[in-house]
Amino acid sequence: MIDPGILRTIPIFVDLADSELKELTRVCHIKTFKKDEVVFLEKESAEFFYVVLGGKVKITIQGGDGKEVILSWLTDGDFFGEMALLDEEPRSATVVAAEKVDLLTLRREVFLRILRENPAFMQRIFTVLSNRVRKANHQIESLALLDVYGRVAGVLMDLAMEDGRRLPDGRIRLKLPPHREIANMVGTSRETVSRILAGLAKHGYIENLGGKAVVINESFPKPLKNG
Ligand code: CMP
Repeated sequence: MIDPGILRTIPIFVDLADSELKELTRVCHIKTFKKDEVVFLEKESAEFFYVVLGGKVKITIQGGDGKEVILSWLTDGDFFGEMALLDEEPRSATVVAAEKVDLLTLRREVFLRILRENPAFMQRIFTVLSNRVRKANHQIESLALLDVYGRVAGVLMDLAMEDGRRLPDGRIRLKLPPHREIANMVGTSRETVSRILAGLAKHGYIENLGGKAVVINESFPKPLKNG
């Protein structure tokens, strides 16, 4: 049985009473997925709500041409799988373990009951969903208004803000995802991403440190809108 102390550290559960958390420990399960293992596929029917206890998952959809489009990465404390449980439609996206990941699973009826009985829990879910719509709007805006150079630069800035480490001289050190994944985030080819990153390095906006590590220099251009 999962330790209630672990549940207490998960942001969406912090408002639950001790008795509710204890009850939750009896009905939730932990599932571990290896890197690249599929948690579920887009269009499948839905039975569970998931919370990431440790590790990272990738949320993707399949474009008409079979190309993968990356919507988001979720990590410790993030949840997913709520949409299909709420609107009773099939899964809206595929979820894959981006590295080994431990997931807490709750059955549909348990998730819906907690939601009904706990306004504070519901508000936390709504807050995250609002934030996801905001990010999706930002993605739509950059697809509509930025050229591919601007979109790659935008993704680099977003990754730097989310995962980067600020160095004493103000620059940001960051581990880049594979070029193919950046390409799938901005709707272009791997070759284009490699060419743009090489161009950014040539002009001194980024420095390659070897492996996947780069430093983003302070001269890095802010993505400009075309329209
Ligand atoms: P569901 O549709 O049940 O299954 C796929 C899940 O991916 C979905 O619920 C959400 O939890 C999650 N998801 C879908 N779109 C996004 C997005 N744009 N950003 C983050 N997570 C998403």
